[in-house]
Amino acid sequence: MNNIDSELRCEGQTVLVIFGGSGDLTFRKLLPALYNLHVLGAVADGFEVVAVGRRPWTTAEYHEKAKEWARKQVRVPFGDADWNDFTRRLYYHRMELGDLAAYEELDRLLAAACPNSRRVFYYAVAPSWFRSVTQGVVEAGLNRPGSRIILEKPFGDSLEEARELHDELVAAYGEEELYHIDHYLGKEMVRNILWLRFRNAIFRHVWGRHAISDVQINAFEEEGVGSRGGYYDEAGAFRDMVQNHLFQVLSVLAIEPPADETATALHNEQLRVLQALRPVEAAAIDEHLVMGQYEGYREEERVDPESRTPSYAALRLFVDTPRWEGVPFYIRTGKSLHTRDMEIIIRFRMTDPETAPDLLVIKVQPDEGVFLRFNVKQPGRGEELAQVYMDYCQSCHIENYRNTPEAYERLLMAAVNGDQSLFSRWDQIEASWYFANRMIAAWEAAGMPLASYAKGSQGPTEACRLPALDGLDWTVSDLPETSLRAFV
Ligand code: BG6
Repeated sequence: MNNIDSELRCEGQTVLVIFGGSGDLTFRKLLPALYNLHVLGAVADGFEVVAVGRRPWTTAEYHEKAKEWARKQVRVPFGDADWNDFTRRLYYHRMELGDLAAYEELDRLLAAACPNSRRVFYYAVAPSWFRSVTQGVVEAGLNRPGSRIILEKPFGDSLEEARELHDELVAAYGEEELYHIDHYLGKEMVRNILWLRFRNAIFRHVWGRHAISDVQINAFEEEGVGSRGGYYDEAGAFRDMVQNHLFQVLSVLAIEPPADETATALHNEQLRVLQALRPVEAAAIDEHLVMGQYEGYREEERVDPESRTPSYAALRLFVDTPRWEGVPFYIRTGKSLHTRDMEIIIRFRMTDPETAPDLLVIKVQPDEGVFLRFNVKQPGRGEELAQVYMDYCQSCHIENYRNTPEAYERLLMAAVNGDQSLFSRWDQIEASWYFANRMIAAWEAAGMPLASYAKGSQGPTEACRLPALDGLDWTVSDLPETSLRAFV
């Protein structure tokens, strides 16, 4: 007797078991990505999905819930026929994650229906559940040789907890089978940084302190915490976005050329960047970190009415390697801001104080593209300088738009194919946690105030003091209206 009310039948070579199958992430990101892959026929060997959750739903009810989300979230055109075809592979299995016997039941089910499928387990649950799930999987013998484990962030709530979790997971599964997801590493334009930089002489040879004055990574979100107040109020902007996603992006931007094209070489170099982040002491924290909270945050659902959790963070960092000596890296991220936009701005050194700096802007989302600003002589008789812009709008082309896999599609495929290069290696996560922990502790030790900002604004004005320390401002991001508009 099992909880799946329709009969599980595996035809593909992979069965993906999602722990946290009734959660936000599964509905918003994973199932839409799997639908896209299915419609595009991208998983040649086929797959089945078993979504595991505690809610008392039937598989048919689960399909209905998933459909509401999928309609809004999928990248390829949504069609009822495609959806019905997709859901033939999607099962809902009700179980309590703390109940060991339930894992045995799941094992019996998979052994009977999917004897030849590779098992991939997705931990789409809060880190506090990781231990129970691992124990259940291991004790029930659910993991077979070749099984893979995909771990969703946040990976622990602190460095100590992350280390404990890691040791347990390695003891249970072995390090090679662990796939730490950082979905920013799967984004098209984040992937593109390496190509842009290493396959173009015009960028490759200027990438460093001789030509670059500063680097900005901006990840703005228009939405507030929404229904995720419970999780977010524990995490805050630094742990939610900076410690993982934005440090990973920084590590790709500042990387030295990897020795070869393997995942190991890439990870080694990313790690070196993270280890080279200059430590920040409490006495100087105000020169490196501003954190803020939007007005109305404390009234959000499941948020502490006296919360001091930041929903915004701005950082000024230095990477102590010969290439980047003295070049500030700024990071800004926050919720309930004026726009949803992620871009990376490389500002080049000025040739003289009167000449505007050249800019290279890598647009990550919602539009994808590359934008270059440079100086020319004013056309015609004028002898003055004019700034002009060259746009390469990748997402403006319908073909690119359709062919560009969304981050989770790419990452799910990579995990199924055993490609580790798109995932974070444990030592990278450890190095980011180490740095993040120290910075947060310094902020607390210094008793730094939490700045307030209005919903829909550009964040707290206090953040302006960070670039001002280097004689700069944020205004480079106020680029003129460009042709960089996504197709839809
Ligand atoms: C998640 C964070 O990892 O990334 C969310 O937990 C955040 O708070 C999200 O909204 C942003 O991802 P994306 O792909 O929409 O930029």
